[in-house]
Formats: sequence, C-alpha cells, structure tokens
Amino acid sequence: MKHIICVGACYLDTILTVPKFPTEDSKLRATKLTRRLGGNCPNTLSVLEQFIDESIELHFLAVLPSEHSGATKFIRDSYSKVQIDPSCIYRVAYDESPSSYIFQNGETNSRTIVNYNELPEMTKEEFVHQAHLLSVSKEAVEGWYHFEGRIPDIILHGIKYLRASLPGFKISVEAEKPGREGLQELASAADAVFFSRSWAEGHNYSSAKECLTAQATLTLPDALLCCTWGSAGAVALQKSGDGTEVWQSVNAWTMKTREVRDTIGAGDTFIAGMLFALSHHGENWSLKQKLEFANELAGRKVIQEGFADLA
Ligand code: FRU
Repeated sequence: MKHIICVGACYLDTILTVPKFPTEDSKLRATKLTRRLGGNCPNTLSVLEQFIDESIELHFLAVLPSEHSGATKFIRDSYSKVQIDPSCIYRVAYDESPSSYIFQNGETNSRTIVNYNELPEMTKEEFVHQAHLLSVSKEAVEGWYHFEGRIPDIILHGIKYLRASLPGFKISVEAEKPGREGLQELASAADAVFFSRSWAEGHNYSSAKECLTAQATLTLPDALLCCTWGSAGAVALQKSGDGTEVWQSVNAWTMKTREVRDTIGAGDTFIAGMLFALSHHGENWSLKQKLEFANELAGRKVIQEGFADLA
C-alpha cells in the first residue's frame, strides 16, 4: 500500500464573485457567495481523492481547531477518502478554522485572497510525532510526502527526519509565496518541486523555462521540477544523476466553448495531477504524459466552480 501524505494549512474559503475589483472605500454587490474547504493541500487532496484506487491511501497532516468544533466537522465532512486521523493535530483552545476571504473578479479572472490564521503552527517535534504515528498505526512507510512550503525550518527538519527514518517516501514541496524566506532551501532538498509563477516572478525569473533553467543547478541531481505559468501553460524538467535532462512544456489547456469561471486552486489541482501521475503511473508514464495530465486537470478545474467531478 502506498500513502500520499499532504502537509499544510487548512482554510475555510468564503468566495465572493464580483463584476470588477472593488474600489477602496466603496460598496459593491457580489453576484455570488460560495463557502468551501480551502488551503493548498486540502484542495490538492479534494482532487486526488477522485482518482485513487485501493492501492493508495490519502492522509492530511495539519494543525486543526478543536476536534469537536464545527470547523473540524466541516473539514471531516468535506472528504470521502482523505483520512485526517491520526495525522492531524487538534488545538483544543481554538474553535475557528483559518479563513480566507476571496474576491473572484469576473472581469479579469483574478482571485485576490485575504486570509487570517491564528492557529499556532506545527512544531518540529509535532511533525516527527505525527509521521511516526502514521508509520506505526497505518503502516505508512512508502509513497509521497507533499509539503506546502510554509515554515521552512520546520519542513526542513521534517525532510531530514523522513530521509533518515522513512526512506520509502519521496518528498515534494511547493514554492508558492514569493515573500516567504527559505523556500529555496526546501526546493534544494526535495525530489519534486512545484514552483508557482508568483514565486518565480518574485525571484526575477521572467518565464517558467528561465525559472527551471536556474533551479536545475540548485536542486537534487535527480529532481523533478515543475513551474506553472497560468495562461502561458507549464514547463517540467526531469533531471537524472548522470546529468541528462528531459524537458517538456505545454500550453495552458483550454476549451474554446467554455469560459474561465474559478481559478482558485488551479495550482493545487496541477499538483494533484502530478502527484497522482507519479504515484500511480510512475515510470509507466513519460514526463510528457504526466505534464499533460496535470495541465489538463488544472485547465478543466478553472472552467468549473470548485473541485468536484474532475475524474
Ligand atoms: C488557493 C488557496 C485557498 C486558500 C488560500 C490559502 O490556492 O489554497 O483555497 O484560502 O489559497 O493561502
């Protein structure tokens, strides 16, 4: 049995669809309000659970509010296959989940996210404890650990622990937020890295190709690197220890008859596609097949609302 364990924060998203971006100190009527489970890893897991069969188990490893809070119940009820126990850590003194308030601009398709999170972050010791618990109680010793790049020194500690104690796991990380220090160190320690356009632009790369060309020299010898660039598609680079490089690029997947409706979590969906391709198809799929699969999945996600029915 393989296990995919996603480590990151959980949000409740409140999405207001607006006809244009609001002007400061004005009033604007939204055309729609949606509330749903959010956060990069929860979104990735919502997609993954539609694809996996009995050979893969999905786990979410995160800090959540108290076990009996409405927020935790909502999270639990949002999943059919993702297991949140015994991997999640409950903060008994907190009842509210971290929240995001999102303007989905119908004019430009941009999504502007303001979020609030008062839950104390996971500590190094807590991560090690939870990973150990999973390995013992669920026999989770093989598969993927995927990390949303949040607090780099905690994740780096986690990666060192996994390499030493659970070597059956491959490790991927997401470098998304440009201002977050330390993501480069995480990228340099992972088997697969997902760079967002905003992270790449924040580091002065002007294209996905340019980002991966530079990152090729800074990452593990056999790392897989992916960089998504919104409407300009995505690029992937598979390095190997002998110095060979396989490059693939794709245009953004579009369906001419369908308009973009919801871009929130497009990158999270791409990651789900790639993690599924890597863990389920592995060497049987070429890099091109993996990239095309992940890219199409992200493309199909943005022409619909939410993450349902993508399989
Ligand atoms: C989208 C998303 C939202 C969440 C926010 C957290 O990628 O995960 O679902 O509210 O980003 O940063």
